[in-house]
Amino acid sequence: MNWLLRISNTHREIAIKELESLIGAKTSVQWIMPLLVRIDAEKGDIDKIIDKMASLKWVIQNPLLVSPSDFFSLQSDKIAHQIPPTGTDTFAARFNQIMVNIPELSKSKTERFVGGLILDCFPSLQVSLDNPNSVYRVCYFIDCYVMGWTYAEQTFQRIEESSPKMSPFFGGGAMKPMLTKILVNLLYPLHPIVLDPFCGHGGFMRGIASAGSFAIGIEVSMKIARECKVNNQYHQVEQTQIIIGDALHQPFRRASIPEIISDPPYAKQSTTIGRDREDLIERWLNSSDQERVLITLPKDMVFEINNNWKLEYEIDDFVHKSLTRVVRKLVRLK
Ligand SMILES: C[S@@+](CC[C@H](N)C(=O)[O-])C[C@H]1O[C@@H](n2cnc3c(N)ncnc32)[C@H](O)[C@@H]1O
Repeated sequence: MNWLLRISNTHREIAIKELESLIGAKTSVQWIMPLLVRIDAEKGDIDKIIDKMASLKWVIQNPLLVSPSDFFSLQSDKIAHQIPPTGTDTFAARFNQIMVNIPELSKSKTERFVGGLILDCFPSLQVSLDNPNSVYRVCYFIDCYVMGWTYAEQTFQRIEESSPKMSPFFGGGAMKPMLTKILVNLLYPLHPIVLDPFCGHGGFMRGIASAGSFAIGIEVSMKIARECKVNNQYHQVEQTQIIIGDALHQPFRRASIPEIISDPPYAKQSTTIGRDREDLIERWLNSSDQERVLITLPKDMVFEINNNWKLEYEIDDFVHKSLTRVVRKLVRLK
């Protein structure tokens, strides 16, 4: 089956990696635009992506791509193969432009035209602009119309509910929940136990737990560890354990926890118990025995990655004018 997935623009580069990680190498993927991907996949695989992927905005089944010059001469037989989702009796056609803004492209004219084509094909349907069962989506990207029935759509409301600001305790500059979830997915499929050795108020721990794994967090500050526990209880996340301790002296059997995801200390307000920040990262990477590590650090933090590790990728993520994060995925070499 053929699908079209629209990815959020917010963390574009990382979102692309998220999709690649969730979809695996076996599925054939064709990027139409930086934010639009066409995929040949079974329904079950798409449903799994819809369930997990943080940066997914919507999915169309059996998309139709039309050039601008052909659009208003389109005949209804061209969309007849696009069967409305089961249970559809009312619909709305919705038009929007993505990454462009061409004033001459009229929203109402486009929606009326496409609505007419749909009624020609499926006369039993009725238009409901306010409360449709299903939405027929028409998008204009750079020089192309993309259209089809919406199979799934994310409002991001569920993700925003886990925002640091919705927690009893959070630190300044805490990561937005969409990014936390994307980064957790970069390690997909997750090991059953995942460690955050600098867990702070527990954003990654809750991301790991909501992805179905058990999260262990290490935090050097007793105060923050206690606050992290309150946060986890507040969000009713049970699959977590916080250890008050030092990331450089982990109390685990060697090689027992193969995966780490972490946002090590970088801001002035984060304690490092007097250690130099870069030195702490280098020493921690030297002493870690994990197989895969996903870390985010500001771009201006310069540290050496020793030759135990292969840098699989690094991606910049602009936050604001004085902070660009770099997301790095490291894989153990020896
Ligand atoms: C950037 S914050 C982590 C933010 C976290 N991801 C969150 O959602 O709140 C880094 C944390 O590392 C802790 N930390 C600093 N040095 C540490 C060490 N040696 N071992 C464990 N935790 C440490 C700091 O107290 C701080 O809470």
